[in-house]
Formats: sequence, structure tokens, C-alpha cells
Amino acid sequence: MSTLQKEIDSRKTFAIISHPDAGKTTLTEKLLYFGGAIREAGTVKGKKNTKHATSDWMEIEKQRGISVTSSVMEFSYEGHHINILDTPGHEDFSEDTYRTLTAADSATMLIDAAKGVEAQTKKLFKVCSMRGIPIFTFINKLDRQGRDPFELMEEMENLLGIRSVPMNWPIGMGRDFYGIYDRHQQQVELYNADNPAHVEVKKITGPDDPLLDELIDPSFLAQFREEIELLDVAGDMYDVDKIKSGELTPVFFGSAISNFGVQNFLEHFLHLAPSPVGRESDQGFVAPIRDSFSGFVFKIQANMNPKHRDRIAFLRITSGKYTQGMHVNHVRLGKSLRLTQPTQFLAQDRSIIQEAYAGDIIGLYDPGTFRIGDTLAEKDNFQFAEMPHFSPEHFAVISVKDAMKHKSFEKGLQQLTEEGAVQLFHTYNRYPEQQIIGVVGVLQFEVMEYRLNNEYNADIRLERLPFSIARWVDGSDTALEQFKKRQRNLTTDRDGRIVALFDNEFQMRTAADKYPELTFYENSFRK
Ligand code: G4P
Repeated sequence: MSTLQKEIDSRKTFAIISHPDAGKTTLTEKLLYFGGAIREAGTVKGKKNTKHATSDWMEIEKQRGISVTSSVMEFSYEGHHINILDTPGHEDFSEDTYRTLTAADSATMLIDAAKGVEAQTKKLFKVCSMRGIPIFTFINKLDRQGRDPFELMEEMENLLGIRSVPMNWPIGMGRDFYGIYDRHQQQVELYNADNPAHVEVKKITGPDDPLLDELIDPSFLAQFREEIELLDVAGDMYDVDKIKSGELTPVFFGSAISNFGVQNFLEHFLHLAPSPVGRESDQGFVAPIRDSFSGFVFKIQANMNPKHRDRIAFLRITSGKYTQGMHVNHVRLGKSLRLTQPTQFLAQDRSIIQEAYAGDIIGLYDPGTFRIGDTLAEKDNFQFAEMPHFSPEHFAVISVKDAMKHKSFEKGLQQLTEEGAVQLFHTYNRYPEQQIIGVVGVLQFEVMEYRLNNEYNADIRLERLPFSIARWVDGSDTALEQFKKRQRNLTTDRDGRIVALFDNEFQMRTAADKYPELTFYENSFRK
């Protein structure tokens, strides 16, 4: 096997998706701990960082005195090379969060056992399922009383449309949590509330093993045996193909804070999760094993510190190998670039990398050369598929206060749009035309205002609009013409596509009912 193949096969690049407070920071920290990236994994104390445009990692950073970055963490575990992509969930939830998922080959959905499937989990799940990537589920906080596991699985099916297969199953919960039973390895992992770090693993012949009678209270054991019987008879079968195509999610139970069930999850995950997969380009599919380097920019992060006004473009390597100082084509600009000092994101440090492989994420210093979706390729001139835009949830008319500053305002607006921080729409058939900004997370308005003011010296006026939904509308020419004539609140996106804005779901459905020949898409991919 070639070195390139070996390197690629050893890689896993995934994102953890969850609603705030489900325990993503905690779980990530424990995973990093297994990889030795953090010397001592403890509890992340204190409330979330509420500072602008920083993410959870910054908080860990401060508390632990280690340097972690805000977008991707990398660690090794038993010969695997793992990249975890951060998907900010708090105030800094933005369209970036969705786009980051395009760089992942699989996702881990973290669910709070007491809360079940929550709003942000649903949104992020949708983006993953649109791509058909495998989704693993970790049901967290079993050390507390939560909801019935069957009920949680049913909720996943009803709200997300995904079937599930429990890889392990909890015995009791909360104060009566005894541990988990691994259905595949036929073993129980016993939870000790007084000393959660000490996990006792016992091989058993199955749920009926008499050994369990010595370890578990009879009433909990009886219930556990009944549940396993029910799962065996009525539950979904373990089916690797369905897991790989994202139709079936393997479910794991545990308690991230106690580091319980995390290793069990990690080991199954590494076994089942895909190694880097290729991506579609305008010249066909690009496989990771291709002998030349290529990649795409999925996120651009601006530094908020005026002293360091640089940007980092995050590039997912799609094929081949990166070596320091290599020359690549910047396909959109038709220019050759030398990649001099890309950084790679280790959990402990941001370091200059010498080499990286398909599946890895590298950070490129961006003096304004990159846009979201840009392709870099060593030998070729293909472009990776366009990066989708997703429906913003907050909208505002934007204008510059001082007309003299119009030029720099437009320049700034274009830059922010290219970075993907905000989406820009133009009112359709309305005079004078207005520019409308759409964002997924409301904090982006403030970030935009701050940056336009600080970087472009443009003081802006924002007039919030009542809309909360955008839909890319498509259909036959005649139907679309009718719609364009009659429907109010239409805009065009930067590619001139018609985007309708609605106050709420009800309004949107009414329009969809009225124009059955048209399709209303939630993203610019029109998928
Ligand atoms: P997030 O990144 O998804 O937002 O979640 P984070 O890890 O910050 O966890 C959110 C809260 O849930 C934290 O409590 C954390 O301690 C707690 N938590 C995480 N995993 C578990 C678990 O397995 N069991 C229990 N019982 N709690 C868990 P907090 O009150 O916000 O902070 P803290 O004061 O407890 O640190």
C-alpha cells in the first residue's frame, strides 16, 4: 500500500453537532484526552463565553492555559489521525456552522438524554443528511435522570427521519445508573458514581448471564433484560451499509462529564466512520487518493483584533498531499500561489505544518485572496462544487450613514459576503433598490457593524425586518413569472436567483400551496 493511501486511510474528519449545553465541549475535551492532546481532562467549569466571535475553545483555552483554536482540533489515537471540526453553538451560531459541515466526512450528534432532539440539533442534522454522511449519536448525561431511551429513539425518527441502532444500552439511569451493555462486544461497562474514572469492564455471555445478577439490582436488571429482548426482536438490525449512507444512526449512551462511555463510543466510531471521502467537481469526482493535491476553502475567519487584521482561510484537503511551500493553482483567479506558511490545528498548538493529507484541514493566511468555495489544485483546473447558502433567520436593510463613504462601504460589504459571514440580497422590482442582509445568528449583525466601522470606516444603519425565512424559488418559467409578478418581498441573491422572504412558516406554506408548480428550497443548492 502506498504511503499516501496509508495516511489517508488512517484519517477521520468529523464534526460534533448538538444544541448548546448538550455537552459538546465536555465530550470534545474527553476525546482529546484519549488522544493525549490534553494532559488532564477535567470538567470545564463556568458559564459559556459570551464575548463576540469567540467560541467555546477560547473558554477552555483560558481555563486550561492551553492554546486551542476555534475551528478544528486534531489528535491521534491508536494509529488514527482524527480531525474534529468545531460547530459553534452559542451566540456565535452562524452560517459558518453549516458550511463547516461540508468539510466533514461524518458527524456525531450529541443529545442531552433529558432534552432529546432540540432546535439546533435539528438544523445541523438536516445539513448533514442533505449530504448523506454517516451520523453517529451519543446520548449524554446518563448520570442524571433523563427520558426513556426508546422514547428518544422514536423522537429521532419522528423529528429527524432517521432510524437508529443502539450499539450499547444503558442499565438504569441517574442515581441508579449501573453502566452500559455493549451489544457487539458482549460486555458490560460498570459505572461507579463515586469514582467515575474507574470503569470496570466485564465480558458476559449476553443479557442473561448470571454474573449480572450479582452486579445489578433485580428490578433494574429485569427491566434491562426486557429492553434488550425488545430491541433484539423489534429494533433495527445493525447494517453497515445503511450506517455508511446515513440512513441508520448507531447510538451510544454515556456521560461525557464522567468520561463514561466515551472510549466505547470512540472505538466503535473509529471502526465505522469513513476515512476521507472525495468530492464532486465540475470535471467529475475527485478521489482522495489522486496523486496531486487539491482542496477547497470552507470557512474564512477574520481576526477581530485591529492589531492583527489578518484572516485565515480554512481549507479542507480533498486529494493528495500538501507539502510546505508547494505551488498550487487558485482556480477562480487563474493564478499560481505558493503555500508558504499554512498552519495546522493541533489541540495544543497552532503550528506550521510540513505536510498534510486528504482529510486534513489547513489554515491559510488570507490577505484577501480567498472566497468561500475557492478551489486550490496542484495540477488541475477543476472547481469543487459550489458551497451552498442556507436560509438566514434574521434580516435587515443595510445602508451607509454617510454617502461619502459609499465606496468603502460597498467594498466592505463585498468582503464580508465573500467571507460568508453575511448574505446579501437585493430587493426585486422595487425602486429605489435596497440591500438586505441576512444572517443565521443575530450576533453576525453586530460583528458586521463593528467590522464595517473598524476596517472600512463605514458607519452603517441597520433596519431590522420582520422576516425569518428565506426560500430559493424555482420552477417552470411561466410559473416563476407569475410568482414574480404577484408575490411580495422578493429579492435576488448574489447570483441573481429569486429568493422569497417570509415572516413565518405559515406565510411560507400559504405561498407554497398557492404555487404548487414551484419548489421552495431551504438552501441555494436547491436540494
Ligand atoms: P456545550 O458545549 O454543548 O454547550 O456543552 P458543555 O460541554 O459546555 O456542557 C453544558 C453543561 O452540561 C455543563 O454544565 C456541563 O458540565 C454539563 N454536562 C456535560 N456533560 C455532562 C454529563 O455527562 N452529565 C451531566 N450531568 N452534565 C454534563 P454547566 O452547568 O453549564 O457548567 P458546570 O458548572 O457544570 O461546569
